[in-house]
Amino acid sequence: MTARSSLTIVLAAGEGTRMRSAMPKVLHSVAGQSLLAHVLGAAPQGAGATLAVVIGPDHTAVAEEVRRIRPDAATFVQRERLGTAHAVLAARDALARGADDLLVVFGDTPLISAATFARLRAPLKKGAALAVLGFRAADPTGYGRLVVEGDRLVAIREQADASAEERKITLCNAGVMAFDGRKALEIIDKIGNSNSKAEYYLTDAVAIVRQLGLEAVVIETSEDEVRGINTKAQLAEAEQVMQARLRKAALEAGVTMIAPETVYLAADTTFGNDVTIEPFVVIGPGVTISDGAVIHSFSHIVQASIGKNASVGPYARLRPGTSLGEGAKIGNFVETKAATLEAGVKVNHLSYIGDAHVGANANIGAGTITCNYDGFGKHKTEIGTGAFVGTNSSLVAPVKIGNGAYIGSGSVITRDVPDDALALERSQQTIREGGAKRYRELKTRDKKPKA
Ligand code: UD1
Ligand code: CA
Repeated sequence: MTARSSLTIVLAAGEGTRMRSAMPKVLHSVAGQSLLAHVLGAAPQGAGATLAVVIGPDHTAVAEEVRRIRPDAATFVQRERLGTAHAVLAARDALARGADDLLVVFGDTPLISAATFARLRAPLKKGAALAVLGFRAADPTGYGRLVVEGDRLVAIREQADASAEERKITLCNAGVMAFDGRKALEIIDKIGNSNSKAEYYLTDAVAIVRQLGLEAVVIETSEDEVRGINTKAQLAEAEQVMQARLRKAALEAGVTMIAPETVYLAADTTFGNDVTIEPFVVIGPGVTISDGAVIHSFSHIVQASIGKNASVGPYARLRPGTSLGEGAKIGNFVETKAATLEAGVKVNHLSYIGDAHVGANANIGAGTITCNYDGFGKHKTEIGTGAFVGTNSSLVAPVKIGNGAYIGSGSVITRDVPDDALALERSQQTIREGGAKRYRELKTRDKKPKA
C-alpha cells in the first residue's frame, strides 16, 4: 500500500492582540522555539507531504520563519481576517492541487505532536470525510463545542452561537482537522458567514459534511496537547507543559538531574550518555552536551557545544558560538562567546573569552579578559596550545599568544607573543615613603586628592 499524500495548512494570520506585543503571535517562543516552529515540526514531513502557511499582511517576519524551518512550504497571505474557513481558502491554490489528506492546524497550538496528526488521519483511510481533534476541557468557555450523536459528530457550535444547553458540553474542538483531500475544497467552499460574528467558521464544515451524507468523527486527545496560546499567561502554561515533557525525555535518555523542575531545556537540546545537570541551569536553543559532561548550578547556555567530560560552572555563561573540547573546564563567573576552547583548556574563574580560539591544555588565569571590541569592530584572540595566561591579564585583540607562551599576571598584551616566550607588561608600582600621611591631608582638604 502506498502512503497517502498530505497537505497541511497552518493558520497563522492572526495578530494575537491579546499577547500585547509588537511581535506576531506565532513568533513567540516556547522552549527556545517559536510557536510556529513547534507546529511545523509536528506536521507531516517527507515524501508526499506538502505544507502551506497562511499569514497576515505585513507579516514578513513570519514568512521568514517559515522559510527558515521548512523552505519547501508555500506561504499565502490572508488580506482580511474573515474567519478560519476564509483563512484556509487563502491557500486555495495549494488546495486545488489536491492531496489524499488535508490537515488544518492553528499556528498557536505548539504542543501538538506528530503522533496525533497520524491518529487524526487514520479515519480518512476508512472512508470518513472529516476527523476533528477533540478534548475534554476543564473549562470549555470560549471553545467550539462538539455536538455528538452516539459516536458520530453532528456539529461544532462556537461559544457565541451555542445554546445554554450546548455550553454545558465539555468536549471541545481543539482546532485541528483532517479532511478527505478530494472533497475538502467542495466542503469548505460551501461555508457561509451567517452567525453572530459574521465570520466564515471552519467548524461549520461538520454540518456540511453531514448534509452531504458523509461521515465526520472525533478523535480525542489530552487538553495539554492542544492548549492554544492567546495570552502571555497561556504562553507560560504551555512552557510548563513543554518543560515537563523535555525533562522527562532527558531523564529517560539517562541525563542525571536531581532537581529537574529547576532546569530549563530547549526543544532541540541534545545529550550524550551520563550527562549531569545540577539544579537551576537554563539551556537555550542550539545546545549539544556530550558524554560525561557536567553542568553545575546557575549556568546559562545558548548555542554551544560542550565536549565529552567537560565541566561548566557553577555560574558560567556560555553564549552563542561556544565550543568546548573534551575535558575542558569553565569555572565560576566565566563568560564565553564565539570561542573555541580545545581539549583540556581551563578557564576556572572570572574571565571573558570572546571571539577567541584557545589551543589544547592552555590555562587561562582568573580575571583574564579578551578585549575583543575596540569601540569600532570585533577582533580575534588566538591563544596557543599549552599557553599559560596569568591572572588579571587583558589580551587586546587582534592578538596572538604563541604555543607554550607564558603571560605574567596583570599584563596588558597588545602585541603578538611568540611561541614559548615570556611576556610581562605590568605597570610600575609606585611607592612613596611616608606618602600616606600627605594623601590623607589632601583628601580631607579638597576631597579630591591626587596621589
Ligand atoms: C477556534 C475554533 C474553535 C476552537 C478553538 C480552539 C473556529 C471558528 N473556532 O476558535 O472551535 O475550539 O479555535 O483553540 O475555527 N485565523 C486566521 N484568519 C482568520 C481567523 C483566524 O488565520 O481570519 C487563525 C488565527 O491566527 C489562529 C486560528 O486561526 O491561529 C484560530 O483563530 P482564533 O480566532 O484564535 O479562533 P478561536 O476563537 O480560538
Ligand atoms: Ca485561539
